[in-house]
Amino acid sequence: MPRHPTGIPGCANSQYIGGMAKIILLAGVSGSGKTTVGRLVAGRNGMLFYDADDFHPAENIEKMRAGQALDDTDRAGWLERINRFLLHKSAGGDLVLACSALKNTYREQLVAGLQAEICWVFLLGTYELIARRMAARSGHFMPPALLRSQFDIFEKPESGLLLDVSEPPELLAKRIENHYFLNKMKPNFTPEFGLAGLGVMGKSLARNLAGRGFRLALFNREIAGKEENVARDFLGQHPEVAAQGFNDLPRFVESLPRPRKILLMIPEPATNVFTDELLPLLAPGDIVIDGGNAHYLETERRAARAAARGVGWLGTGVSGGEQGALTGPSIMVGGAAADYRQVKIYLENIAAKGPGGRVCCTRVGADGAGHFVKMTHNGIEYAEMQLLAELYGFLRDVQGLKNSEMADLLETWRDPKTDSFLLEITVDILRKTENGQSLLDLVRDEASSKGTGSWAVEAAAGLGFPATMMAAALFARYVSAAKTERVQAAQLYPGNKPARTKMSLAVLKKAYQTARIINHHQGFGLLRAASEHYGWQLDLPAIARIWTNGCIIRSGLMNELPACLRKHPALLFHPKIQRRVRAGRGALARFCAEAARSGQAAPCFLAASDFLNSLATAAAPANLIQAQRDYFGAHTIRRTDDPAGKSFHVNWKN
Ligand code: 6PG
Repeated sequence: MPRHPTGIPGCANSQYIGGMAKIILLAGVSGSGKTTVGRLVAGRNGMLFYDADDFHPAENIEKMRAGQALDDTDRAGWLERINRFLLHKSAGGDLVLACSALKNTYREQLVAGLQAEICWVFLLGTYELIARRMAARSGHFMPPALLRSQFDIFEKPESGLLLDVSEPPELLAKRIENHYFLNKMKPNFTPEFGLAGLGVMGKSLARNLAGRGFRLALFNREIAGKEENVARDFLGQHPEVAAQGFNDLPRFVESLPRPRKILLMIPEPATNVFTDELLPLLAPGDIVIDGGNAHYLETERRAARAAARGVGWLGTGVSGGEQGALTGPSIMVGGAAADYRQVKIYLENIAAKGPGGRVCCTRVGADGAGHFVKMTHNGIEYAEMQLLAELYGFLRDVQGLKNSEMADLLETWRDPKTDSFLLEITVDILRKTENGQSLLDLVRDEASSKGTGSWAVEAAAGLGFPATMMAAALFARYVSAAKTERVQAAQLYPGNKPARTKMSLAVLKKAYQTARIINHHQGFGLLRAASEHYGWQLDLPAIARIWTNGCIIRSGLMNELPACLRKHPALLFHPKIQRRVRAGRGALARFCAEAARSGQAAPCFLAASDFLNSLATAAAPANLIQAQRDYFGAHTIRRTDDPAGKSFHVNWKN
């Protein structure tokens, strides 16, 4: 097949990879703006533009005009015609085609046999937005009533550049150019944003940023035999990522225009060494976003060092794991508001969207606030995971359910009030088999941890805040890790398990729902305590809002919390929550009693129940503690019959 050797006249930005033409294929439902954006891209880059609508036979047009959706047969001839055209035209140079390409099979038919660089761009938007736009346009044969059928058959693409049509066409065109035109090998490629640390999270975030049209500089350190040419290999595997790769830190920094914006995705404790190497290379005004799980006090020390050089430091929590980082994480930023304003375009673009389309990214407060909020997120995460593990243990050891039966049961709990990402993945895990056997049964029962859970519990203890559920969850992991001791103790203290009582599943569900509410009460309580102590003025409803999607603790309950927290910052005192907890308290107590009676460990459920009982005790037995302290240490007591609240030491021996 003849190829265009170098470029076409007037096509300054054309890039030819191995002599191949570039075909930009803009896909999306009718009314998504394919033609407008396609014409812009073609016009700005001296490319020819074609509209797939012009290839329809008259009978297709008539059918659509009459309000009937096309079927696969109607579309087959049309797609074949476009494909033949592309086979012919692509020999002549770069071009842009706007075509709905609603299904994967249509997409395959369109590009079959093409020897060209195919650049898919999908214009995505909500039905409401596109319906509004269609209603406003005139002179098109496609009636708005057919839009629903287009949405119904549209298959979400697995690759390509996905763009949000709520953005202006000029910006969309720019994103397409950034993504597909700026050849990463081209000498005049200028990155706009740096990312250092290409581990699992770093790679996913790089793909996410590039997918939103940002031009990147990527850095990964070089360790012989361990981390070699990581950036180069990553770009080789992901040619769609518009980026320059580096393994040399000074060159990476130099490649970025000032003020530089650099996201660190480096696990602790390597951040220390990296910070030492990075800071001397930076200039006043540059901004570093530390997206790793750093301790908030360490973040404050690093921020102070950076500030001494005039560099901004944003300690930022990024939640969502590998998949979340790729498709939209929840992002909790701490640091100066002015620094955040400079980088929010990047962070807010890649973040998940919660209910109402609002981005799950915000600046939560100054200094270490971002990492404190992320650490608390992880503390809540620990307890949410532990509750599910205890439930699983009870269903397995006391109720005698098989994993597949548990999956069926928990699937039915996925209603708006009880559902969560962690419940969803638990169902998947319970269903997973290998050679006919449950894979979960083959997983060793020793839980590990990377530190954020213990930081959260330490911080709670330091602030004098009773985060009893995350503490129970953390220590449950430590007990699980002591496998040898557990095996020995199981022989010594066989207990009365399994009692094989059948508790009502409705009671179990209520107990679980109630314990989760108490966990969230404690988690947000910890944030409140820190906010008061450090003067961060954390906006709890906003934090709950950015946790509604993207992060590990997203859930139906979380969706309700922004409104609840707006009304009452201490969740257990909110009227709606009060009603739920009153209705569930008995179930929680019954579950805890049943677990204890059966010798079944349920530390996190017990912590929930005990916390509620303690909180709901107007007259605590702590008077005895005070008396004991005074007895042996003269720590003094205050008397209930002394309204002045003076302290006394008593000689307790009669
Ligand atoms: C998240 C996770 C993430 C990571 C935890 C795991 O929000 O995406 O919390 O940060 O999974 O650090 O922590 P452990 O290894 O301590 O369980």
